[in-house]
Amino acid sequence: MRTIHTLKELRAVLSGYREQGKRIGLVPTMGNLHEGHLSLVEQARQAADVVVTSIFINPMQFGANEDLHNYPRTLQDDQDRLQAAGNSLIFAPSPEEVYPEGLAQQTQVIVPEVSEGHCGASRPGHFEGVATVVTMLFNMVQPDVAVFGEKDFQQLAVIRKLTRDLFIPVEIIGAPTVRDEDGVAKSSRNGYLTAQERAVAPAIFNTMKAITTALTQGATDYKKLEDQARAVLSDNGFRPDYINIINSLTLKPAKADDQHLTVLVAAFLGTTRLIDNLSIKR
Ligand code: PAF
Repeated sequence: MRTIHTLKELRAVLSGYREQGKRIGLVPTMGNLHEGHLSLVEQARQAADVVVTSIFINPMQFGANEDLHNYPRTLQDDQDRLQAAGNSLIFAPSPEEVYPEGLAQQTQVIVPEVSEGHCGASRPGHFEGVATVVTMLFNMVQPDVAVFGEKDFQQLAVIRKLTRDLFIPVEIIGAPTVRDEDGVAKSSRNGYLTAQERAVAPAIFNTMKAITTALTQGATDYKKLEDQARAVLSDNGFRPDYINIINSLTLKPAKADDQHLTVLVAAFLGTTRLIDNLSIKR
């Protein structure tokens, strides 16, 4: 399995595969890979002949107060995991390769509506950074199919919309969230939790489960459910950022007769911000 650092080399290698009629899959990541990422690679393997996993810690999606410089850089370990997972190629460009003129000069992709609210409200500029780099990766790799985790629910909605709106010829696959046995969603950020914080982390999943059970039974007082969930998380030592019951398709606050509902949660445990979501249809 090769690791490629430049666009020139990537294009040369991929054009060889294309000439052989191979279907190309892309799994965009920021590295520090865990089982959740490997499940994306597995999905891509089922949908494509050649799987390119990109590893790029995208400076454009980090806010001024977010710790870009301390983001874990674990290329050797990532290479070993991807090799074992049957990945075909790693594309690990430098920031200079992706943003040769610097961030300030970079054309940006702005996705209205679905980028707003939730994480978009808490992390200004984040989804512009994600939408821009994902569009660039689509243009660099020109994949037939790309796989993203459903754990980043709003991100997936942003990517689906930009792909539609910009007529990018790529199929987007959303892969189900991988969880530990106690319900905690796999995330690079779990590595920041202390043992004490990790012990209470399942409260997010349990709280979402309690809400979706109530929703399945017909509850429509969403504000009450959100308030109760906020109180439960606070009692468990979290600092909730938001708990929103939304229409899964529009990402707007849910209405009483909506059938596709998603509970979106973002909450701090100490300095670590965890996000998760659970969807139901009723
Ligand atoms: O989900 C992530 O890891 C990142 O937001 C992504 C999609 C790789 C873009 O940098």
